[in-house]
Amino acid sequence: MADYWTKERIVEHISTLKDTNTHEKLGQFFDDWAPHYDKAMESMKYVGPSIASICLQKYVKSKDARIFDVASGTGLAGEYLANSGYTNIDAIDGSASSIEVARKKNVYKNLYVQWIGGDNKMDVENDSYDALIIVGAFAFNHLKSDVFPDLIRVTKPGGYIVNNLRARWLKLEASYADGKLEADMEKHEKEGKWKLVERHVKEEEDSDQNVVTFIHQVC
Ligand SMILES: C[S@@+](CC[C@H](N)C(=O)[O-])C[C@H]1O[C@@H](n2cnc3c(N)ncnc32)[C@H](O)[C@@H]1O
Repeated sequence: MADYWTKERIVEHISTLKDTNTHEKLGQFFDDWAPHYDKAMESMKYVGPSIASICLQKYVKSKDARIFDVASGTGLAGEYLANSGYTNIDAIDGSASSIEVARKKNVYKNLYVQWIGGDNKMDVENDSYDALIIVGAFAFNHLKSDVFPDLIRVTKPGGYIVNNLRARWLKLEASYADGKLEADMEKHEKEGKWKLVERHVKEEEDSDQNVVTFIHQVC
């Protein structure tokens, strides 16, 4: 099965995400893929989790810091963080099968299965975390900017939100396109909720494949 997930098949598979326009369909997509996801990402040379983990380490020095891996999937970012010495990491994702794969990695303390965004507030106290890490969770039919207030709510004042995605999604997903996602980020900055401390870009030959990491500090 590992050989099945060639780069071409993965690109084709990911393109079907445009049809997963309900949580039920998106959950089915990731539940079915969960047993194969890590191998597929390895063959794709997926760099999002390692880049986000390196960015987080620049700002979050304490290895005991409470970190929340939001839309964790199978836990690739959690593994990177644990390998870098972080010991206090929780995870949340809407795909129950992905969370079960993540649980087996033994890098998370608490794991939650929940679809988030809009009125679906995370079942987490205000000001709980020193940092949030969000990797590859802004794409077709994934998280929308309506999740920002809840991300800010669960992060401690002074804490960091590290969020990365492929630049291509900033054009392809209609609700982010034409600068809308970044304009929504700026709106929260103007309201004094968070401030952008870094916009890190890992450049690729094809600029649509660049990985853009937004690092916000909560006010
Ligand atoms: C491309 S995967 C990335 C997973 C992981 N962060 C990684 O980098 O490997 C996107 C994940 O976001 C989750 N997701 C998307 N929208 C979500 C939502 N509204 N609420 C909770 N999870 C969501 C999916 O279930 C999926 O596991």
